[in-house]
Amino acid sequence: MKPTIELPKIIDPRGNLSVCEGGQHIPFDIKRVYWMYEVPKGKDRGAHAHKKLEQIIVAMHGSFVVNLDNGKEKASYKLEYPWEGLYIAPGTWRTLDYFTEDAVCMVIASEHYDENDYIRNYDDFITWINAQGK
Ligand code: TYD
Repeated sequence: MKPTIELPKIIDPRGNLSVCEGGQHIPFDIKRVYWMYEVPKGKDRGAHAHKKLEQIIVAMHGSFVVNLDNGKEKASYKLEYPWEGLYIAPGTWRTLDYFTEDAVCMVIASEHYDENDYIRNYDDFITWINAQGK
């Protein structure tokens, strides 16, 4: 799957509008939405993976970089458009960095918050990936 998803952009002289519907523009039903903001200059977020959770990340304002690592391949994506979503599959180590001071990072998630779904140590992540036979 291509990780970036272009969301509908409804251009309007009164101001533009974008939308995403669970199961329509994004490949899961939405159970949770959260957002990060006022990230101090030079600070990173993330540094964990999820076993089951699927997520879409959108830069609602400003920009930041999302670094993905599935245990075999690594890729980095700069997000800066409120009509672009980045899909994060289960079993992906992610870090987010280079936040601009005005950045608002919205995350749309397939599951409710569950600390047991997190893998917060990189060596544990690699062990878990290898155990999946991926
Ligand atoms: P965490 O997911 O570790 O942040 P990051 O996205 O930078 O990796 O979450 C930080 C804290 O916020 C953690 O103590 C748990 C809490 N939290 C919730 O209570 N609910 C949520 O939906 C999320 C994402 C985090």
